[in-house]
Amino acid sequence: MKTDMSKLNADQPVGVFDSGIGGLTVVRSLAEILPSEDIIYLGDTARLPYGTKSAETIRRFAKQDTEFLLERGVKMVIVACHSATSAALPFLKKDFKLPIIGVIEPGTRAATKASKNRRIGVIGTPATISAGEYERAILAADPNARVIAKSTPLFVPLVEEGWVDRPVTHQIITEYLTSLKEDKIDTLLLGCTHYPLLAPALDRFFEHNVKLVDSGDETAQAAHEVLKKMNLLRDTSHHGSCRFYLTDLSPNFRSIGERFLGEPMQDVIRVSVNHEG
Ligand code: DGL
Repeated sequence: MKTDMSKLNADQPVGVFDSGIGGLTVVRSLAEILPSEDIIYLGDTARLPYGTKSAETIRRFAKQDTEFLLERGVKMVIVACHSATSAALPFLKKDFKLPIIGVIEPGTRAATKASKNRRIGVIGTPATISAGEYERAILAADPNARVIAKSTPLFVPLVEEGWVDRPVTHQIITEYLTSLKEDKIDTLLLGCTHYPLLAPALDRFFEHNVKLVDSGDETAQAAHEVLKKMNLLRDTSHHGSCRFYLTDLSPNFRSIGERFLGEPMQDVIRVSVNHEG
């Protein structure tokens, strides 16, 4: 679906999508940095996880998610999911004519700025790590950086279960990340919506010597820059609202969602985005 950019206006909402509710960490940052914006959030909870699926499937899902947001009249789309950004962002930008940003570029900017020894670790889902987009983006920003990327799929179910400080959590962190510690990284890019919730455990594992980069804030900042440049920032007298669309309402979605959002989820609607039947 094509959108005429000249017809976009500041009063339209900002669209955000993720494979599930982990992307609410980005909504949290957006609400802080752009409190006047109305936000429409789509979480594709029925088809979660994306991170273990093929790039082709993730691309198809991401396209449907974007179409859903466009049908709700958004002026911009933020791909809050790292797996979807890795697999689909260039395709979405080509197919849809409105501003679309992902989480990789903003996260990369923060990581390259933070690293002193230029040894940067990246962790994410198998889809994110195998796509190699973080690695490419970091090396484009700093060709002399050393990137150590590691897929850490078990972190997602641990966070969803709320097991962020259990002995098993620390054991899995040790198993996955000992090589990164030995490689003396000084910066770790949290390349997945869920990982910011593991930050205290990761910080402990790295003995507070490694800077943990969460792209949520950086992405919200990037959204601010794009909207400002396009003259699409909402009037600051407006008090922004948030509407949540989920493709499945599992029994525990509220408790998990509130952990990511940091407050109760109001205004939740179940929808279908799969027009394939
Ligand atoms: N939102 C996904 C990501 O950031 C994590 C969950 C999933 O695998 O769908 O990569």
